[in-house]
Amino acid sequence: MSFIVAATANAHKVEEYKKLLGDIDVEIKSLADFPDMPEIEENGSTFKENAEIKALAASKFTGAPAFADDSGLEVDALDKRPGIYSSRYATTDPERIAKLLSELDGCGNRRARFVCAISIAFNGEVLETFEGTVEGNITLAPRGEGGFGYDPVFQPDGYDQTFGELPQEVKNQISHRARAFANAVDFVENELAAIGDVF
Ligand code: IMP
Repeated sequence: MSFIVAATANAHKVEEYKKLLGDIDVEIKSLADFPDMPEIEENGSTFKENAEIKALAASKFTGAPAFADDSGLEVDALDKRPGIYSSRYATTDPERIAKLLSELDGCGNRRARFVCAISIAFNGEVLETFEGTVEGNITLAPRGEGGFGYDPVFQPDGYDQTFGELPQEVKNQISHRARAFANAVDFVENELAAIGDVF
């Protein structure tokens, strides 16, 4: 097989993907390699639907096997918001964090989880979709400079540090994306070997 497309232009995600898929012998391209691809409208109502929409669109455009994730933060006290709207919740990461902390101001229930759905598509169809989650709490203030998005205010269960403070290697072992990938990796290894015969 010549390559597989990660249907994202987010450089942080591409780096995580490359590390997560490090053992698989295939070149990973991203949407940064396909600047002419039209913007994909994420109009699904679940993480799974959005991942499938993106993987299918990227596979159709590039003619290659493509995978996409859709992920976000569910906060129990906010009825699982921002959820699929996590990136649209505010314009920048500091603004998203400030808005979240302000919505939770004085709230004792800070239970939250990151959710990730990963979908793999080829030849005009979705082949499979996998999910992963990581449970934790929203901190009272941001801590740490690492990661991206809501990482500085998310403290995973079993750790004293936030995702912004934990080394990337640790996050890559326990994150929602890592868990979804752990489920997806066998499939990618086995099925894409078969796809490789035709692609
Ligand atoms: P999307 O999956 O590209 O639609 O983006 C989901 C949004 O959820 C991101 O823009 C982040 O704000 C947030 N998000 C998803 N995964 C993570 C993560 O691992 N750490 C921090 N924030 C995340």
